[in-house]
Amino acid sequence: MLVRDGKILAAGPRKRVERRPEAKHAETFDVAGRVILPGFVDSHTHLIHAASRAEEYELKIQGASYEEIARKGGGILNSVKKLRAATRDALKARAAAALGEFAAHGTTTLEAKSGYGLDVASELKILSLHRELNEEQPLEIVSTFLGAHVVPAEFRTKPGGAERYLSLLMDQLLPEVVIGDLAEYCDVFCDRGAFTVAQSRQLLTKAKEHGLALRLHAEQLSYTGAAQLAVNLAAASCDHLEQVTDSDVRALAKSDTVATLLPGCDFHLGLKGYAPARGLIEAGAIVGLATDYNPGTSPTMSMPMVLSLACTQLRMTPAEAIAAATINAAYSLRRDHAIGSLEPGKQADLAVWEVEDYREIPYYFGMNLCWMTMKRGEVIHMKD
Ligand code: NIG
Ligand code: FE
Repeated sequence: MLVRDGKILAAGPRKRVERRPEAKHAETFDVAGRVILPGFVDSHTHLIHAASRAEEYELKIQGASYEEIARKGGGILNSVKKLRAATRDALKARAAAALGEFAAHGTTTLEAKSGYGLDVASELKILSLHRELNEEQPLEIVSTFLGAHVVPAEFRTKPGGAERYLSLLMDQLLPEVVIGDLAEYCDVFCDRGAFTVAQSRQLLTKAKEHGLALRLHAEQLSYTGAAQLAVNLAAASCDHLEQVTDSDVRALAKSDTVATLLPGCDFHLGLKGYAPARGLIEAGAIVGLATDYNPGTSPTMSMPMVLSLACTQLRMTPAEAIAAATINAAYSLRRDHAIGSLEPGKQADLAVWEVEDYREIPYYFGMNLCWMTMKRGEVIHMKD
């Protein structure tokens, strides 16, 4: 590969690349036969949160379900309480440390969602941290507004609380997000215990009118019809999809909406019903993969681990999994022109792996074989 000014000038067999006139005085960086891949594009994370929920993990192992814990005030509301009590500096430091881990596992771009604030000040605090972190460290952060994660506790006791919270999102928060240019996407957690399809449609339609592109948490814990909604609204991505039906699969296959699968959730929650990746691929859907890094259902920054799960649990081939975690994910973030593959003209975003064959990346599981990560031509992680 030949890299100049942070971009790929040429990629291919050594002889052809070295023949280029620009290669003559280039500084060389020998990766000694290791495998180079495009940097991972992690298209679904909840980057900013205050703390782990390890105490709930133990309850889940003892038999409590994710939804039971949530009904008792645990789950997302637990994280909301902790985030509201945390200082901006503490949130930033925790996210910065996580970003270092993402880079160390070969990720060069990630999407980050708000959604643990759920009041005007806290949601804006999270979104402004996305911007600050994007500017101050090398990983590229794509910001998503997920004010509709769940209805916050203070609205649950009011009559018509959910509707009143939705009005707050649409009439107060959304305009501020747009004026401040704080998010590129709007997302909703459309599920039992969160928001209905009708509520999701209302908010997403409004967000679209404001110029935001759409993503949706769909068909994770229960079947709601959210995947069809995502397709109807031409969302960029529709994520989770454990409960999709054949007709959803057909609708996704006909659409440009990426079916983003998050097998880390099922693994961490100990669930057996993984999303039908094979059916989606065979029908012609665009399948993406992401970590869903969050404290409740998928506490990992490791795309290599997600690839291992994609191969063994979703029955994706290593090549399909890598395409899903790079170029397809880039497409879901509308950045496929700039990232997601090693092609001339694209950013020099890549990861070098300590393996002899790319299939060894998912084959070895629960370990990190990333040797070096580069963002826009700069080394941002090097194994010591
Ligand atoms: O993507 N499903 C909704 N949101 C997260 C979980 C958030 C949490 O439990 O804190 C998810 O799985
Ligand atoms: Fe999520």
